Amino acid sequence: MKSNPTQDVKLNPETLPFHVAIIMDGNGRWAKKRLMNRVKGHEKGTQTVRCIVTACAELGIGMLTLYAFSTENWARPKHEVKALMMLLKKFIVSERDEFSKNNIHLNIIGQKHRLPEDVQKEIDTTLTLTKNNDKMILNLALSYGSREEITTAVKNIARKIELKELKFREINQDLISDHLYTRKMPDPDLIIRTSGEYRLSNFLMWQAAYSEIYISDTLWPDFSEKEFIGILKNFQERDRRFGKVPCNKSNDG
Ligand code: FPP
Repeated sequence: MKSNPTQDVKLNPETLPFHVAIIMDGNGRWAKKRLMNRVKGHEKGTQTVRCIVTACAELGIGMLTLYAFSTENWARPKHEVKALMMLLKKFIVSERDEFSKNNIHLNIIGQKHRLPEDVQKEIDTTLTLTKNNDKMILNLALSYGSREEITTAVKNIARKIELKELKFREINQDLISDHLYTRKMPDPDLIIRTSGEYRLSNFLMWQAAYSEIYISDTLWPDFSEKEFIGILKNFQERDRRFGKVPCNKSNDG
């Protein structure tokens, strides 16, 4: 019988990250290495998305955020953008049953209104169908960029002040967080980036203030459930201090 890595591994459920965010990078290089069109890399990358979403639900991860399309990705060649939108639409439709089976609630962060209308329509159907699911939240970051997110938040806060719905002295970090796409969501505990690049690339820059970061050399299409579990183990061994000192090392008693 084929062994299932999510069943074999001993992860401590008490110290699992609640919110895992992933920068899925390396689809193009994966295809190039095989003398294939970049789109083939995105196709294989979509299979990895399926595998990791299911693994997260099985492992008990509360929230998974996937950087699927950035505000900068609109500047890619037209045919690549079109192919990515098509893959996204297919994924949103084909995974509906799986989301229901695994009790996954789909959510979108980013400029949903910029996506093609047919994609938005399928997204809306899946959002409605999964809205009461409560085992795991799957955030797809689509036409997402932190700078756009923060700029929009600043504009919305400024407008509320102009309309006297808000006072200047009421601006604080919680208020800013409440105006981001991720409002009411906990910050990511762990951010994984594949393909060996050491950048955040405009992803969750406000929310990443105290996230643990893991860079994997694996190209996203080759990323596996087994490697993911190894990364979770690595996370569980880290000492998160949030800028403070551990209790037993404090000098002030
Ligand atoms: C980065 O690889 C990846 C993307 C820009 C898109 C990610 C998309 C997918 C994984 C597939 C579709 C998504 C879903 C949710 C169905 P790259 O193209 O920048 O790779 P490179 O750096 O090697 O060129």
